[in-house]
Amino acid sequence: MIAKIIIDKKREGRSLGSAEIREFVEGFTKGEIPDYQMSALAMAICCRGMTERETADLTEAMMNSGRVLSWDGLLTADKHSTGGVGDKLSLVIQPLVAACGVFVPSLTGRGLGLTGGTADKLETIPGYNASLSLEDFDRVVRSCGVSMTVQTDEITPADKKLYALRDVTGTVASIALITSSILSKKLAEGAGALIFDVKCGSGAFMKSREQAVELAMSLVAGAKASGRRAAALVTDMSTPLGRAVGNANEVAEAIQILKGSKDPLLKLVADLSLELAALMVSLSKGIALEQARAECEDRLSDMSAFARFEAMVSAHGGSLDSFLALLEKPVFRFRIQSMRSGYVSGIDAEKVARAALELGAGRQRQTDAIDPLAGVTLDVMRGDKVSVGTALATLQKSGDPNGLEHAAAELYKAFTVSSQAPAAADLILERID
Ligand code: URA
Repeated sequence: MIAKIIIDKKREGRSLGSAEIREFVEGFTKGEIPDYQMSALAMAICCRGMTERETADLTEAMMNSGRVLSWDGLLTADKHSTGGVGDKLSLVIQPLVAACGVFVPSLTGRGLGLTGGTADKLETIPGYNASLSLEDFDRVVRSCGVSMTVQTDEITPADKKLYALRDVTGTVASIALITSSILSKKLAEGAGALIFDVKCGSGAFMKSREQAVELAMSLVAGAKASGRRAAALVTDMSTPLGRAVGNANEVAEAIQILKGSKDPLLKLVADLSLELAALMVSLSKGIALEQARAECEDRLSDMSAFARFEAMVSAHGGSLDSFLALLEKPVFRFRIQSMRSGYVSGIDAEKVARAALELGAGRQRQTDAIDPLAGVTLDVMRGDKVSVGTALATLQKSGDPNGLEHAAAELYKAFTVSSQAPAAADLILERID
């Protein structure tokens, strides 16, 4: 195989053969194909696109670049979210699905950019080890029904190398490359059913609904082509999910939902969690969605979902008692209030996330440390009536108060208060089967 010929072929807009794709990825993983040739191919793919078959071949080649897990006949499912602001859904969904008898092997990520990832959130629980070996991951999944840990270097090394290149060569924005990147990791986990929560809006990776739908369709088609049961929801991410944006505060909020909180601001998060969990259960068990939803509601209200969460935390070495003590630690707080009367017609997710990042809740570089207690807690939701002086949100951070006032001024810009109440908006925009 001559790498240059393959690059030329894609640059001219022609389809690559399965063997060409496989050999290119194998050569790149082994270091035989240099980064500059992989970058050139990524750019050609960005400009010319890939057919469904080529995308499936690229996905398979990346999946096979590392270990592929198998669960010998267990009923397994996982969810992938393209990431959003206040997105703590996995912390609710994965134990809930496990409580319904479906095993959830969930390899997750640390966040880069605006907010922490699921692993960063879980690591705010003192003692929680989110860097299990694959052997320990296997043991925890089988004993607790669910494990959430960071993907090790043994899973899809080709994706790790390629993603680092894409990040610096302007080649992230390609549906084929995004699909193969996300899907290769999920397929390597070995789960039999995959649900995708593709977010769109200011706080999401996909800003427009059209892009989000295109990605959702591509992920579902790719997963099905690899023999998995799959579906996707395209969901709104123009406002944050729930009250909490940060890390420890998001875990605390997920625990509240798992314990059946009736807080109206958490209802949307709880409803979306239930819908995604029901889809996972329905697809893996092959039962009707309504039946799966009823089962999920029961497992939430009889606290068995919370019991799974507790069991998983403990199997990962974490202590919920110490977590509760952490939440009581002194922090610096700043509350912002409305300066006008009217209705909250918008809470811009990206601006809320930027304020949380400024406080230390996210990282700009892979090596940055996260302040577990930093974050934003919203006091109002879209549609709420407010007067002058009504509390809109509270910011908090540990260490010192530096930066609180600046972040507060930035956070204030996230709120739009209008004289008219906004029209009700659905969180779930599309479902793709
Ligand atoms: N997330 C991934 O894992 N890969 C991409 O290419 C984009 C988002």
